[in-house]
Amino acid sequence: MKTSILKILIAATLMFGVTQAEESIFGKLPDGQEVKIFVLTNASGMTVKVTEYGAILVSIEAADRNGKFADLSHGYDTLEGWLTNTSYFGSTVGRFGNRIADGKFSLDGKTYELATNNDPGGIHCHLHGGLKGYDKVLWKGETFEKKNSSGVIFTYTSKDGDEGYPGNLSMEVTYTLNNNNELIWEAKATTDAPTVLNLVHHSYWNLSGDAETSINDHELTLFADHYLPTNKGLIPTGDKAPVAGTPMDFTKPHLIGERVGDQFEALKFGGGYDHAWVLSGQKEGELTRAAKLRDPKTGRTMEILTNQPAIQFYGGNFLDGTVTGKGEITYEHRTALCLETEGWPDAPNNPKAPSAILRPGETYSHKMVHRFSAE
Ligand code: GLA
Repeated sequence: MKTSILKILIAATLMFGVTQAEESIFGKLPDGQEVKIFVLTNASGMTVKVTEYGAILVSIEAADRNGKFADLSHGYDTLEGWLTNTSYFGSTVGRFGNRIADGKFSLDGKTYELATNNDPGGIHCHLHGGLKGYDKVLWKGETFEKKNSSGVIFTYTSKDGDEGYPGNLSMEVTYTLNNNNELIWEAKATTDAPTVLNLVHHSYWNLSGDAETSINDHELTLFADHYLPTNKGLIPTGDKAPVAGTPMDFTKPHLIGERVGDQFEALKFGGGYDHAWVLSGQKEGELTRAAKLRDPKTGRTMEILTNQPAIQFYGGNFLDGTVTGKGEITYEHRTALCLETEGWPDAPNNPKAPSAILRPGETYSHKMVHRFSAE
């Protein structure tokens, strides 16, 4: 009886366009701490699940051109599964998302040494905040509901010296699902001492809703005339390069698989696409179109807008069938891709990059809008 009344109440509120935010216990960490999971539902039936562990996007269901809903992201069904997440599925990543060369940077005359927990091309570097980045900590979540949106505000304070970074960093990561079918990920942070940061959202997308198919048949547009070439270790050389005339040019829509096998040094170093594109025509800090991803089979489309200067397009090259995720599916090579809005990789070591330094009295703000539709 209670359940049917609850269902009627949810249906009624959705009918009047009110979006819903519900919470429940997802499970417990090995140390016994409880972890909450939250379900957001909007008026058109889109659902988003997020959890306090890693401020992770657990799943997102959106409709295709025929109104069929499916989950569009790689990940796990249980908290136990998410505790094994070495691919950064769905993750909030930091303190510095992406790579820092040699795990070292200098700030105000002092050199900081971080974990070198990654070695593409056999060259060690620091990746995604080190051995225990923000994707592996327990955030605190609080829901909110407004007339045309609902969401969860996650908070966490990373202590001075955490993973070798200076400064106590107080963060807020907010997921908002609104009735325009937009999922907005927003990160804000303040510090009590100068630090570097690049908080990044790291979901893996397959808009077909079938995690066993390749994303090489997805159509991608990147609103960027330049990208950042790298060395063999995927560390940017420091300068921008024009995409024109290269397989890195997505200023017009291209199928991802169309040129990924081309003989081109950047694709060789990345083992496919795994680079930062520098957005064109962006006024500093202004929300700008970064990417448009479309699955021709289902018509599902995701546009990404951001106030950050770059977007990392990673084509799922390290997926190799060794990870079993949702529905006991093993995630094969290039069955999902990441589109991570960000500051420039290795910015702390690159004087040509927009600054990645946050000082006391300043507020870091990173907004990333995922706008879903079906054509
Ligand atoms: C980012 C990097 C990739 C890879 C993934 C995590 O997308 O650019 O090289 O490390 O993170 O697997």
